[in-house]
Amino acid sequence: MPSHFQLLKTDTATAARRGRLRTRHGVIETPIFMPVGTQGTVKSLTPAHLHEIGAQIILGNTYHLNLRPGSELIRDLGGLHAFMGWNGPILTDSGGFQVFSLAKLRDIREDGVAFQSHLDGTKLFLGPREVMGIQQNLGSDIAMVIDECPPWPCERDACARACERSLRWAKQCREIATESGFLAAGHHVFAIAQGSTFDDLRREAAEALSALDFPGYAVGGVSVGEPEPEMLKQVGATTPFLPADKPRYTMGLGTPPQILKMIALGVDMFDCVLPSRVARNGLVFTPDGPMNLRNERFRTDARPISEEIVNYTTQFSRAYLRHVTIAGEIVSCTLLTLHNLHFYLDLVSQARAHIEAGDYAAWSRAWIARYEAGAT
Ligand code: GUN
Repeated sequence: MPSHFQLLKTDTATAARRGRLRTRHGVIETPIFMPVGTQGTVKSLTPAHLHEIGAQIILGNTYHLNLRPGSELIRDLGGLHAFMGWNGPILTDSGGFQVFSLAKLRDIREDGVAFQSHLDGTKLFLGPREVMGIQQNLGSDIAMVIDECPPWPCERDACARACERSLRWAKQCREIATESGFLAAGHHVFAIAQGSTFDDLRREAAEALSALDFPGYAVGGVSVGEPEPEMLKQVGATTPFLPADKPRYTMGLGTPPQILKMIALGVDMFDCVLPSRVARNGLVFTPDGPMNLRNERFRTDARPISEEIVNYTTQFSRAYLRHVTIAGEIVSCTLLTLHNLHFYLDLVSQARAHIEAGDYAAWSRAWIARYEAGAT
């Protein structure tokens, strides 16, 4: 049987890879950016918009969807794809990370995490069995294991304990996904390597998880407050120890230059709330750096956001987009989110073309230099 992940080309000057990942809902060309649809919607966009800008896969979240409206309800209505009207692939985060960042009064136990809902204080519990059951109810194409993400900064002993627990939970998630037939049905489960700023712990986590032969691997616990050089060092301390023939995903990252730098470190998949979140505040991305449309200098500017990144939003002037943003009109969120997500999708599409052409290192260096020169 052909593998679910095909490496089409590996760059010689960097560790960048061009790949193809098969899922139950279609093929994903990597490197890829995945728009975030935490609550069963990419905020302010419809699935038609997502198709229009070339989204290949989106994210959902176990923690949020299980709290509201509940994963059984979604299962009974045909699964998350049917529920939200998106027929492409969906990756769901396991919820562990959100428990650590959002929930109140957590209690980490060997079998999982007890916590109180951030919505109404209800007492809940998530462990390997729960997160795999919820992701099965959702019908995720790519389900993530439950992990313990150590804070930054973190003591070495505490980090080692979090890594050990994450490894035990990953093993259990894999066993549950095998026993339930989830893996055999073509769903993928990705493991998550933690290790904070400790290179040796990151290597140990990556090697131990690799031995378990997961369909894919994520680098977790990055961009949790550490400066960018440290973040890149952590990614670079993990990817060399993950299997070359499996997709690699860094969770919750990053800015456009960071995405290009991580592609050079051998990362294939990315998700980040940044492009959609900042769009709702009037910030848009251009090849010459980010642009805050609220700025007075755009009041009479008849030009589109960018002549180069052409999408539905391009027909509107900066002056109009500034006006609807400042007036608090809902359409501003839609138009700016559409542009920003298209910008990210276009960036990874250019990256794929340059890995294929064999000039990724020079191209990405020039791209970042132009972006940073224009950033004010
Ligand atoms: N999202 C961003 N970082 C992480 C992480 O370390 N673990 C999980 N499960 N989700 C994340």
